[in-house]
Amino acid sequence: MDETLWNDVDRFFTDTLLVPDPVFDATLRAADDAGLPPINVSAPQGMLLHVLVRALGARRVLEIGTLAGYSTIWMARAVPDGGSVTTLELDPRHAEVARRNFARAGLDGVVELRLGPAVDSLAVIEQEGRGPFDFVFIDADKPSYPEYVRWALRLARPGTLVVVDNVVREGRILEAGSPEAIVVGTRRALEVMGAEPRLLVTAVQTVGSKGYDGFAVAVVTD
Ligand code: SAH
Ligand code: DHB
Ligand code: MG
Repeated sequence: MDETLWNDVDRFFTDTLLVPDPVFDATLRAADDAGLPPINVSAPQGMLLHVLVRALGARRVLEIGTLAGYSTIWMARAVPDGGSVTTLELDPRHAEVARRNFARAGLDGVVELRLGPAVDSLAVIEQEGRGPFDFVFIDADKPSYPEYVRWALRLARPGTLVVVDNVVREGRILEAGSPEAIVVGTRRALEVMGAEPRLLVTAVQTVGSKGYDGFAVAVVTD
């Protein structure tokens, strides 16, 4: 078992299950041309986000960490008419590429990108009374994950689904004494989720074109 096999299986899933779409190809090409890191979700993972948003009938989606908007587009295409995806991005270069990608995808009326540190945008979103969100995807800077989990709860309602990316990182999540802020933050976020009485939560390990990693998935209860 190796990464070549994981890649081949992801390609098989993509070819067998997903409808080829030039919008996604153009989105990733624009990201690559602009020199953005290729750390977007894979196509099968993007489709998982799409399926979850669709299954929930989520009308209001919050994403923390836009990059080039690849995962955003998967989710934005799953919301019903009148639905929206609010996506938060710190880096103006990433935001610029993402905005062009949303325009190309015909999603200007669906996606709202907020530029700046996500914690600041989240405070503004709360002040504006824009919650609750039906679906939250957390995928920005890992050291801030615990804060993002707390914000997701503040902006949620009973029934809100919260998905957290990159909770395994090739097993580095087990490094309890690690001084690395990424490990500390991700571990703490899982501890916060596990200790939160309003959450039913699990995590699943994944392999594929993004290596060995995993998602945490939680639903907010009453
Ligand atoms: N969800 C995207 C990938 C996001 S990569 C996809 O799957 O397509 C993580 C993104 O979070 C990067 O673009 C990075 O610039 C952004 N980011 C990092 N720190 C941030 C912060 N404090 N606030 C908002 N965004 C941040
Ligand atoms: C990285 C970040 C991600 O969100 C991801 O899915 C994969 C890798 C990273 O920063 O290396
Ligand atoms: Mg990620």
